[in-house]
This record gives sequence, structure tokens and C-alpha cells, in this order.
Amino acid sequence: MRLIRIDEYEPRTMQLAKPVFDRQKRVLLAAGRSIHPSYLKKLIDLDIRYLFIEDAESFGISLEEMLDVPTWVDAVDVLQAVYKAVEKKEELPIRPIQQLAIKLVEEVNKRKAILLIPASSLAEELREYAHSVNVTLLALQIAKKYHISQMQIRDLAVGALVHDIGKVLTPLKDDHPRVGFEYLRKTREVSLLSAHVAYQHHEAFDGSGVPRGLREKEIHEFAQICSIANFYENALSKKGIPPHEVMEYVMTKSGTLFSTDLVKLFVQEVPHFIPGTKVILNNGRQAIVTKVRGNLQRPFVRYLDSNEEVSLGENHTLLITEVLEQ
Ligand SMILES: [Fe+2]
Repeated sequence: MRLIRIDEYEPRTMQLAKPVFDRQKRVLLAAGRSIHPSYLKKLIDLDIRYLFIEDAESFGISLEEMLDVPTWVDAVDVLQAVYKAVEKKEELPIRPIQQLAIKLVEEVNKRKAILLIPASSLAEELREYAHSVNVTLLALQIAKKYHISQMQIRDLAVGALVHDIGKVLTPLKDDHPRVGFEYLRKTREVSLLSAHVAYQHHEAFDGSGVPRGLREKEIHEFAQICSIANFYENALSKKGIPPHEVMEYVMTKSGTLFSTDLVKLFVQEVPHFIPGTKVILNNGRQAIVTKVRGNLQRPFVRYLDSNEEVSLGENHTLLITEVLEQ
């Protein structure tokens, strides 16, 4: 299975690997079929942008590191309702946030690694919420490597989910962390820790961030985790940079935006290549990334000409030199 943009769909060679859902999470198309061109146009009109497909080259690839689409869309819906309520100056709907935090902690804990569903797979008005869900998933994945209690993990999740809540309360961009913090700390059920994630998520390790120019240990580690996850997700979703390049972009911020230790951890804990990506190796052969296990920087790949699978983690002389568009 692999994830493709809907305009890459080729009915003669590709079958649907997962159902296609509409906005109400009803199944529009069942898995296992190919999509008739006339129906494909209908899906595009319905604003469906990505498809999970099976083709000869992607057999055996599972993408189990991704959340199920309905679970992920549910999370986005919950967050949208929360932000809308706050925008209307209502009280923060804390129960749904806490339940969502617990759900996302569970989803991350049952996986070895997390692959993000692109926020751009949803309509424009939902992307901001999808972004926050993805930031939370990444933050939770990184937090696994810290020895923190379940309570604190949940506080991190809540903080990451609402890190941008200040955006609906002020039009001033640089003010949203502080405004969000002021709002969150007035809500009794929100821990001060969660509120500080929102307050400090635009601070930078070298003191060049906003709103207070905090540096190094002055920034709570949860806020630093949220910050790196936020940076990564923005580069991926808003700037549309491919995952392996985003990772290099993150590395260039080591010691400035983020501590070198955190960057090191991030690089180890977040997959550099998405299974289903076609690549060229330094021996000139084309291959497809099949799975990420152990060393997330060096996945398993399968040669397209011979179907032989090799682990780049164990074959150190093999390198990915190019990522192919399709
Ligand atoms: Fe922000």
C-alpha cells in the first residue's frame, strides 16, 4: 500500500487499499476496487486529495505507523469544535480535549513510530486543526524517550493540542503564545504545564524566540518538544517540503532554534522516509521504501527490478541518492 495524491491515480494499475470516506465519515468507496475515471472526478469535486492505493510495486507495504483515517479525522473534528467554542468566547471544552489527549497517547503508544497523514489531505479550513493533531502525535512520540509520568504525558498532549489557541483570541501573530497562555491558565482543569507549552512554543534555544526570548533551560522541555514538532509539521504541511528534506531542515536548526540533544532525538525517532516512496540508490538502481524498523534514518527498501528487499540499516554502503516524485 502507499499514499498518493489523487491526481497520480492510474486506474489500470492501482486499486484502492483503504476505503474512501466523505466528510461524515461514511464510506464512499470500498477498498479493493479500482476507481472509474468518472467517479474519480466526483471524488476530486468532493475535495478528496489523497488515496491509499495498492499496486504491483507497493505490495506488502503496510503503513501501520499511520493513524486510521476516521480516527484522525475524528481528532481533527474535536479540535475544530474546541477552537470554534473558544472563538465564540465560550469556556474551554475541557472534557473533549482530555479525552482526545488520552486517545492520541494510546495511538502513539501502540506504535513504534509515527507517520503523519498530510494535513493537506483535508480541506483548507480544517488544516490548522489537522496541523495541531499532527504536532501532538509527533510530540508524544518524542516524549516516549523521556522518563515522564502518564499524567505529564497527558499534560503535554493537552498543551500541544491547544498550543495555538491564542490565534483565535488575538490578530497579532507574535502575541498568540501569551494570549493563549493567559486564557488557558484561567481554566482550572488545564495544568500550568499545558498552559506553558502554549506560552513557550515559539521560544528558541538560543534566545531568539518570542514572546520572552527565553533561552536553553528556561524553556520547559515540553515546550521545546512542541516547538520542534511544530516546526517539522509546518515545513511538511504548509511549505510542502518532502519528509527527508524536512529532516535535514530540522538539523540545520540544531543549537539555534533547538538544543542539539533534542534534534538528535528527533532525528532518531521520526522516520525520514515514508514507506511507498520510490527512490534511487547510489548503485543506480530504483527501489521502493517498504518499511521503517529500528534505524528510522535508514529504512528497508525493495528493488523495483528484482523485488529483492534490503535493509539500509544493515547495508551501510547503500545510500538513497534521490527521491522520485511518483
Ligand atoms: Fe504557534
